[in-house]
Amino acid sequence: MTDDHYQVTLGSTSRVRADLHEVTDLDAVDWAFEGWDTHEYTHGLHPYPARMAPQIVRALLGYYENQGVIAPGDLVYDPFSGSGTTSVEARLAGYNTKANDINPLAKLLTLAKARPLPLDQLTAFQDDLMDGLAVELREVRERYDAGESFPEIDDPEVRDGWYPQPQLWELCVIRDRIDDLETDWETDHAADLARFARVALSKTTRKTSYQRNGEFKRYRLAEADRERHDPDVYESFESELTANVEKMGEYAPAVDHDCSSEVFLADSRTAADIETNSVDIVITSPPYGDHTTTVAYGQFSKDPAIVAWRRSYEEMQRVDKIGLGGSTRTLEPLETLEQWSPALAATLETLREKEGRADDALEFFTDYYAVMEQVARVLKPGNPVAWVVANRTMSRVNIPTHLITKELCEQIGFDHQQLIAREIPSKTLPWANAPENTPGVTGDLMANENIVVMTAPEE
Ligand SMILES: C[S@@+](CC[C@H](N)C(=O)[O-])C[C@H]1O[C@@H](n2cnc3c(N)ncnc32)[C@H](O)[C@@H]1O
Repeated sequence: MTDDHYQVTLGSTSRVRADLHEVTDLDAVDWAFEGWDTHEYTHGLHPYPARMAPQIVRALLGYYENQGVIAPGDLVYDPFSGSGTTSVEARLAGYNTKANDINPLAKLLTLAKARPLPLDQLTAFQDDLMDGLAVELREVRERYDAGESFPEIDDPEVRDGWYPQPQLWELCVIRDRIDDLETDWETDHAADLARFARVALSKTTRKTSYQRNGEFKRYRLAEADRERHDPDVYESFESELTANVEKMGEYAPAVDHDCSSEVFLADSRTAADIETNSVDIVITSPPYGDHTTTVAYGQFSKDPAIVAWRRSYEEMQRVDKIGLGGSTRTLEPLETLEQWSPALAATLETLREKEGRADDALEFFTDYYAVMEQVARVLKPGNPVAWVVANRTMSRVNIPTHLITKELCEQIGFDHQQLIAREIPSKTLPWANAPENTPGVTGDLMANENIVVMTAPEE
């Protein structure tokens, strides 16, 4: 089998199962997956920072299936679910899935994307939701223009100055309609249908706000642009929902509805909901570092979750503090990590010499190590885990996360199988920013990823 042959077949939209049979050698895979569709099926339902390429999951599942290690119906676990790439791709391949994330929006997105919906119910729900909505939103505008207030609408906990009016009220009217339909629809799928609609509302919320396009961190439009920003909420929501319903139309017939997908709003350092020795394979992309100085998942998710899903400001504000290496510390920094990982020891030494952020690095890897220990607990002995990691810089020192991952996993008893370096064709990440994420300051974050494949300790 040549790379060309492989590249032609893997990634075709209708042949996920057939694709899996192609992967007999991990070295024969072109891991860049350049030009391939990363939005097919429900993958493109909603943006999320640092999404993983779905084809990584497909190739790994295919390889281990062909090795006889896993089989459809087995359990795939992702401790850092994000927008649910692993869960969606695993469902397409016929697997059951479990996932954790500390970000409520990640849970919402993963469930909405991974759980197939009955399409007749989905279109009926859509019809009910859109019925008379344009008229209702026009009335909101007229009342607003007449200087009326809206005492009947719960004011979402977003910060002042981030939304045009009356658009924020219009978003709330759609939110309330979705809530009402969830209560009124007496089917088993009411919660799933409502969640699916909330994802389209979440995307509309982002587009409606003064958030600058193409930025995952919270940056507001310039004042002059804010004055011109007068989005049509109805048009935006209708087109998002229609596009998402079409995507579910591709996805639902392609997956086995008898499999299941569960997502826990939970910390993977404890992974309390995942049973010991229950998981057949783990495929995951951990955060690159603490959220505040790398990718601020909480900042990205805050307003969409507050407006579309009534999450509280306080809950969303915590996300970046409780992520790996975050400021809300629960674990004491583990000094012995330095003895176990020569790559970490060398990195910390350089950081200390430069009076850089050695303590922050040790705190991040202490948290990350706790997740590795939990993965060792939940994985069946000898079964694989793939860590898809990117190396960041701290205080302008490159952090070799791939080597540190390998060495710390080996300390726990994992066996190293493969280290795959892959270039990222395009990823919306603050690569051009300094480690401190200061806009306009260029650092040397690397635009590549490593896939560290290990197998769990044998008993
Ligand atoms: C790189 S993203 C995962 C992206 C995902 N693979 C995708 O394709 O969308 C890392 C995720 O880890 C989550 N996270 C950070 N610390 C966590 C923890 N202690 N437990 C669970 N999830 C955590 C973040 O909220 C974020 O969603």
